[in-house]
Amino acid sequence: MPDAGITAFADWIATTSLSHLIAQKLWAIPAIQSVHIMSLAIVFSSALVVDFRMLGLMSTGQPLSAIARRFLPGVWIALIFATISGLLLLIAEPVRSLPTWEFQGKMLSLLCVIILTLSFQKLIAARAPAWDAMPGVPAGAKLAALVSIVLWILIIFGGRWIAYHAG
Ligand code: HEM
Repeated sequence: MPDAGITAFADWIATTSLSHLIAQKLWAIPAIQSVHIMSLAIVFSSALVVDFRMLGLMSTGQPLSAIARRFLPGVWIALIFATISGLLLLIAEPVRSLPTWEFQGKMLSLLCVIILTLSFQKLIAARAPAWDAMPGVPAGAKLAALVSIVLWILIIFGGRWIAYHAG
């Protein structure tokens, strides 16, 4: 049962002129969705490279800090595009997404993975000389890398599932 406040907020967004503008242009939603999908492909693939390197499954001959410096900017920049396009999709069809547990779970997972990725970024820089020489990071950090992969997958499933939400 969706929260009445959230449903009222979604109803209000649907009355705004921006919502009408996007929803009425036939090309707008597919175009924004395409940007969303391209952005999330870059976010996910860049994050996977760092996570796999932390797990010792990829590019183990290269220093972890170099891999992070190369690929984490891709995560943050593409995440900006995913957020802008995601917000536009939300504004266009708020009642379809906002009150659903799939959307809310996706946003919660996104918040968790952003905090986790920021922590990785700080930790990888702080532990650079020691971790760079290791094929994988210590067990606790490996578990965090695994959690990061699971969260990204949940976000993707959550995004896709919104369209099939059973009211
Ligand atoms: C604040 C950031 C984001 C917002 C507000 C947002 C919002 C949305 C909305 C409203 C939809 C349309 C759902 C529908 O009506 O069917 C959507 C689709 C989707 N989102 Fe996001 N999103 C965000 C970030 C992300 C990220 C970071 C990912 C993955 C890494 C992602 C993955 C997806 C996927 C896979 C779809 C389905 C696309 C399709 O099949 O057309 N989203 N998102």
